[in-house]
Amino acid sequence: FATPSFDSSNPRIPPYMNTLQKYEKVREILGQARALTLAEKILYSHLDNPEESLMTNTDGGRNIRGQANLKLKPDRVAMQDASAQMALLQFMTCNLPSTVIPASIHCDHLIVGERGAQADLEAGIQVNQEVFDFLESASKKYGIEFWPPGAGIIHQSVLENYAAPGLMMLGTDSHTPNAGGLSTIAIGVGGADAVEALVGAPWELKAPRILGVELKGQLSGWASPKDVILNLAGQLTVRGGTGFIIEYFGSGVETLSCTGMATMCNMGAEVGATTSIFPFSPAHVRYLEATHRHDVAAEAKKFSDIVKLRADDGAKFDEVITIDLSTLEPHINGPFTPDLSTPLSQFKDTIKEQEWPEKLSAGLIGSCTNSSYEDMTRVESMVREAMAAGLKPVSDFYITPGSDQIRETLARDGPLATFKEAGGTVLSNACGPCIGQWKRQDGVEKGTPNAILTSYNRNFRGRNDGNPDTMNFLASPEVVTAMAFAGTTTFNPMTDALTTSSGKEFRFTPPSGLEIPPQPFAAAREPFRAVIAAPDASASVAIAPTSERLALLEPFDPFPASDLTGLRVLVKITGKCTTDTISAAGPWLKYKGHLPNISANTLNTAFNAETGEVNAAYDLDGSKHTIPELGQRWKEAKQPWLVVAEHNYGEGSAREHAALQPRYLGARIVLTKSFARIHETNLKKQGVVPLTFADETDYDRIGACDEVATEGLYDMLHNGGKGEVRLRVTKHKTGEVVIIKTKHAISVDQAGFILAGSALNLLSKGA
Ligand code: F3S
Repeated sequence: FATPSFDSSNPRIPPYMNTLQKYEKVREILGQARALTLAEKILYSHLDNPEESLMTNTDGGRNIRGQANLKLKPDRVAMQDASAQMALLQFMTCNLPSTVIPASIHCDHLIVGERGAQADLEAGIQVNQEVFDFLESASKKYGIEFWPPGAGIIHQSVLENYAAPGLMMLGTDSHTPNAGGLSTIAIGVGGADAVEALVGAPWELKAPRILGVELKGQLSGWASPKDVILNLAGQLTVRGGTGFIIEYFGSGVETLSCTGMATMCNMGAEVGATTSIFPFSPAHVRYLEATHRHDVAAEAKKFSDIVKLRADDGAKFDEVITIDLSTLEPHINGPFTPDLSTPLSQFKDTIKEQEWPEKLSAGLIGSCTNSSYEDMTRVESMVREAMAAGLKPVSDFYITPGSDQIRETLARDGPLATFKEAGGTVLSNACGPCIGQWKRQDGVEKGTPNAILTSYNRNFRGRNDGNPDTMNFLASPEVVTAMAFAGTTTFNPMTDALTTSSGKEFRFTPPSGLEIPPQPFAAAREPFRAVIAAPDASASVAIAPTSERLALLEPFDPFPASDLTGLRVLVKITGKCTTDTISAAGPWLKYKGHLPNISANTLNTAFNAETGEVNAAYDLDGSKHTIPELGQRWKEAKQPWLVVAEHNYGEGSAREHAALQPRYLGARIVLTKSFARIHETNLKKQGVVPLTFADETDYDRIGACDEVATEGLYDMLHNGGKGEVRLRVTKHKTGEVVIIKTKHAISVDQAGFILAGSALNLLSKGA
């Protein structure tokens, strides 16, 4: 390659020179002729050591996908306020003066949607002041860019400010892939993973397989980018993307807006994909320039001229799905799962067949998924037309702008006033109803079946208003709005008419809008801009010693200089044990930054295998306790313990609290029939040893309060994960001794984490 020059002094521009050097190395290793997909180009060009990751595979570096363990060096990290708390607390234990790579914090999840932007924001700040103060002061100390409450939702702010073609970033939120709409590899992770990147350690990922989605034709009429992903979710189901990166390609790509692509990448999370990405397109340049990033656009073009930010001709996808945009019709997905997809033309019949509510109680548009200029101007075209006919939304109508930048632009150009005039309630630039932070004003009580339509991304039961009987359907902002005007879930704006007050028939014409504003985006209002400053070592991090919501973390003890002895079985669990079972959400979310307080929910919905009770455990003296109470009692008595459980322990999410809490309370081992992969990794990162029964029937040979000693564990850990581990179990009731053989999947690196006490202990030593 001719050596180009890239501007490395401008923090908004990705470190293209580094990426290019790695890319050249990758090409050398894999052979110049090897055709790569775009995702592979960007991902492999962020390897810490391409030789190590790509050459150690069985067929000399060819068989990477699904095989290689990639050790990656991301360019940037973004964190939202709920998950940032534990990430920062963990980062602080490493004693570094600043983050090694750029990072940002976005205060969005803790604001409740209730009465409207201003009142909700004020109330949210008041209730969460100490958390925001903590995040702001830690940002100041470590040089993290701080987006205050009201500034915007993480993924919208990232798209508007940080995403850039060829960049690789991590975010502590599952919809981080939104940035793939701007040709960025953006992956959602837990706090401990984010900290690895923040301290400059490589972050490990099993090389994903690549699912190609070919787009042909062009959207028109009522069909929107949202419908592409709603349709794809229906095809793939919620697990269909697991282990894959979804890479879009084909002639249809260039017909889409950047923000439309972001909507599709955002919701790739609903099919379990590692991330999603679009090739670099002229729409990206238009969006970068409209968001005042001409410099990034120019450098990205230069970078793409060399690397070609698209799949090489002949690149192999593991699977390919083709979608014809020209024939795609709008879809509505739900209730309760994002993959239950119904074409709009069949929705009316489905509602009647399933006896789902015909009355629509609320329509909610916006959020991180769908609050683009294009979305909002398309909706405005409909609202204007309906208002001109004398119509107003029949259902409650809420609008959540994704950021203050888009909000101000919509205020400047008219749509916001139109929505308000129609009776819509504009909520603050925050997550609100999307994450259960919605105090409904319409008197619909918990337990009352009702239907809502949102343009959000996720619709698990209870997600929006905490009411498990609220049927939440996902649709494009345009379809949500049309149905809000009708007040029914059976209205099809493509075929049906509404009746005006004068008895006339009104039909919506297909929506039309603008991809980007005619003038560049307006600036966010002053209090809602990012605070960007160099690290300030003299700043102190605000945590009141009396706080119930925040507590500094103490490093966990290292592994002893011998095998473990004297462990006791805290509880033997039966049945499903998800990360929700281990660390419940809901009201406990407010303790995310306070490990001792949140640990009081540990395993509090687990079934005791020996008694059939929920959340019951018995001490050696026979006294009955809740599981977390007994854990705490044993912690105080310095009695280390283990948990015994069945299959797929820790399924569900990447929630790191599910590993941190047992560790905090004194767990050293979790012994199961099998683990969910991410949780197993999280346990090892926190210094807990995950073991599985070599013979599943041994589950019956161990019980609560039995005393356990390990044999071979110490040697195995010092041997980089190689060697057998047996458990010598002394039965509590009879004194009989049984030997249980176990299996494990502990790598050299993970053995190091466990020996050090946790991954962070190890990282902070090296830092
Ligand atoms: Fe927030 Fe919902 Fe997006 S919770 S980050 S608006 S998915």
